[in-house]
Amino acid sequence: MQNFVITGGNRLSGEINLQGSKNSALPIMAGAFLVSGECVLKSCPVLTDVYSASRILNRLGCKCRLSSGEAVIDSSGASSFEIPDELMREMRSSIMFMGAILGRMGECIVSIPGGCELGSRPIDMHLASMQKMGVEISDINGKIHCRIPSGRAHGTKISLSFPSVGTTENIILCAVTAKGETIINNAAREPEICDLCNFLRCCGAEIKGDGESRIVINGVEKLHGCEYTIMPDRIVCATYIAMTAATGGEMIIKNACISETEPFISVIEQTGCGIYLADNRIYVRKGARLRALKDRIRTMPYPGFPTDTQAILMSALITADGTSVFEENIFDCRYRHTDAFVKMGADIQVMGKVAVVRGVPEIHGADIEATDLRGGAAMVIAALSAEGTTHLSNIYHIDRGYEKFEEAVSSLGGKIRRE
Ligand code: UD1
Repeated sequence: MQNFVITGGNRLSGEINLQGSKNSALPIMAGAFLVSGECVLKSCPVLTDVYSASRILNRLGCKCRLSSGEAVIDSSGASSFEIPDELMREMRSSIMFMGAILGRMGECIVSIPGGCELGSRPIDMHLASMQKMGVEISDINGKIHCRIPSGRAHGTKISLSFPSVGTTENIILCAVTAKGETIINNAAREPEICDLCNFLRCCGAEIKGDGESRIVINGVEKLHGCEYTIMPDRIVCATYIAMTAATGGEMIIKNACISETEPFISVIEQTGCGIYLADNRIYVRKGARLRALKDRIRTMPYPGFPTDTQAILMSALITADGTSVFEENIFDCRYRHTDAFVKMGADIQVMGKVAVVRGVPEIHGADIEATDLRGGAAMVIAALSAEGTTHLSNIYHIDRGYEKFEEAVSSLGGKIRRE
């Protein structure tokens, strides 16, 4: 098990080039399974989750070659429809292959996916949606066996009770080669869904309305290969903004996705952190001590404040002037990072879905454990802003989503090493 050793106190300054989005890359890699040809994915981040997706593709009979910033996937040899348990457990996004495998093979065997522990993360909406598209589902020795008797899913109208990102993506993946028209009402509107749809359209899919609550998909017979550039990662972008806000200094984030990061930017600007936007660059500058936020920070589906940036913003507000209040509305257990912050000297009280953060003048290093991907990144930010040295364990969580994290942080002047 590897750890980060981080010594805080340095102001972080410099430039970073934003990596491609993990939450786009994973469903797009699943989408490549639908294509009987070669897909070249540019800006594909090099992450453990991407390696997991690649292992799934290999297991399904596809060739997947990952090199720096590029994934080349050739699914012409697709031969299997089963994902073994150990690969399903590596990440939540393994479930995204369900729609794609059904779309290509008409049958699939999967199991309950793994991923960050953010509370109960059922897949009931995924399964119910597949059933509406003609998929029969049964339990065989604890595995989920999905089968389309006619071999091809059919279009239908699906109204989601909640705009689930993964469910919306799974329906799209199953619907693009289904027979007829599929309509998703109350679809998730996250930018990564538009990125998936843009990729699928490049492969010949007919999709309209992504980015809005009603998505209409007209099934086509076949998809063809393409070259596609994955969008920049808005959550990693928010991480570097918060890092500057927490440590002081100045940062230029290049290849940024400004409008997609806007829900985070508009909140952090209220803390007094200077943000200047130009083309696809974000310039961040922290001057005086941050101010606590007057309004409660409520996590909501896009375009609301993203749940994935809740811990990240909190790490910057631990030492702000005044009290900030968070309300986590997406996951029922997404405050596990707060124990580590408290160990570092933060004043945080959690009551159900609400966390009250009373700003303290400073925090100190401690021995702490990463609890999940974004919570772990938030702990790195806190450690960089703390007095003294922090030993952060379980950093495999962070490696799931941040490319060459310690190299980037070191290049900005942060004292961090892996051991
Ligand atoms: C995706 C993102 C994750 C982000 C989340 C919310 C990826 C790879 N992951 O996760 O980073 O935090 O969106 O923006 O893109 N739910 C059910 N039943 C279901 C499906 C979901 O009850 O069948 C619930 C979940 O438990 C959760 C809520 O719906 O409480 C939102 O989940 P969802 O939008 O599906 O998130 P993910 O796709 O898992």
